[in-house]
Amino acid sequence: MTIVESQRPSELDVMKDVKRWSRRNPELGNGPLSTDRFISPEWFERERTELFAKTWINLGSVRDLEGPNSFFTRDLVVLDKQILVTMDADGEVRSFHNVCSHRGMKLMWEDRGACPRAFVCRFHGWAYEKDGRCVSVPDEIEFHFKDRSEIGLVPITTAVWNGFIFVTFSEETPDDLVTHLGPLGEKFESFPYDILELDYRYDIAERANWKVAIDAQNEIYHVPMLAPVHRFLSQGAFASNDDGYTRLNDFSRLGLHTRYTSISESYEETRFSNAVAKGNPAWGAEQLLPLVDPFEFHVLFPNMVMSFFGNMMFTYNFWPQDESNVVWEIRLHFPAAKTLADLVSREFSAKRFRDLLCEDKSGHEAIQRGCESGARPYIFLGDQEVQIRAFHRSVDDYLEGIRNV
Ligand code: FES
Ligand SMILES: [Fe+2]
Repeated sequence: MTIVESQRPSELDVMKDVKRWSRRNPELGNGPLSTDRFISPEWFERERTELFAKTWINLGSVRDLEGPNSFFTRDLVVLDKQILVTMDADGEVRSFHNVCSHRGMKLMWEDRGACPRAFVCRFHGWAYEKDGRCVSVPDEIEFHFKDRSEIGLVPITTAVWNGFIFVTFSEETPDDLVTHLGPLGEKFESFPYDILELDYRYDIAERANWKVAIDAQNEIYHVPMLAPVHRFLSQGAFASNDDGYTRLNDFSRLGLHTRYTSISESYEETRFSNAVAKGNPAWGAEQLLPLVDPFEFHVLFPNMVMSFFGNMMFTYNFWPQDESNVVWEIRLHFPAAKTLADLVSREFSAKRFRDLLCEDKSGHEAIQRGCESGARPYIFLGDQEVQIRAFHRSVDDYLEGIRNV
């Protein structure tokens, strides 16, 4: 299966053709980007009400559930919503407001777990099934509702794509999930996600705007500079010119979403390739991800990243708390381990990756402070940061009511 449609250019082309991304995407412009979008409470309020309240939001995946008859909860601070995601005995996934119908108590308090029977409210014991039906009310005879159909959990519009669970709170969502995912959804339609397990999850609370955090991940320009972990691990991993400056192999806008790749032709010998799981030589083809490029990075609009490195998939969800705080949720997925060596390899990869991300975290917070200082009202973007321009264009378009590019 080939999942990369465009022809990968030779490294020579990459090196000699500078500014080609700006030239190929003239609609994105090449001017500076205002810092207002990272610091203004008014801007954030607009994103809250015009973007997050209307678009599709990924809450995680079926790998967050323990299987049939299980659940996980999420506190969606940006919209002031608490959510209960359930899987019933038949594997059907649903979402509800995590709010008891009786007096409004938070229903489930745990992050996740099994639920072989019903969800029982700890206040007065009302109980609900995985499909939201209220199945028990202690001393029910006291109440005045006509029947229990009035007192089920309040459902949230939910759709599952390749195991990823999305919700929307829009009452007039213009697009269904398939339309929202657009070309990115088509590209991964038959991707074998089911060979992947969820192995590691890191949550990092940062004092940074959610877009500052996404932007700083959505480029590799910084990788050879940031020391010590980035520089050490990445030496020779990405496409770069003779001076060691990184370059993109490929970039494309996929509707509201973006994709880029950058990988050196000598990737196989790099520290980075050895530090992330390349896969056990004994694995069969069914355990290898069908990737053409060993590094592919996608921003799934608005706040998710789905990316691949070697035989590992990592996803990020950036959860805005307010205009200057975000929780960066990181998940690492590997194919099922078959040997002890697989387990050691995973552990090594995950810890190296964690060290790398810790270096990024301090950068995100320093950028936020720099923007808030008012030293400059704008920032500059180079040609290989074209995907950052595209992401901000998608945000701007969405706020203006434009859904597809
Ligand atoms: S608030 Fe839940 S049972 Fe009373
Ligand atoms: Fe980084």
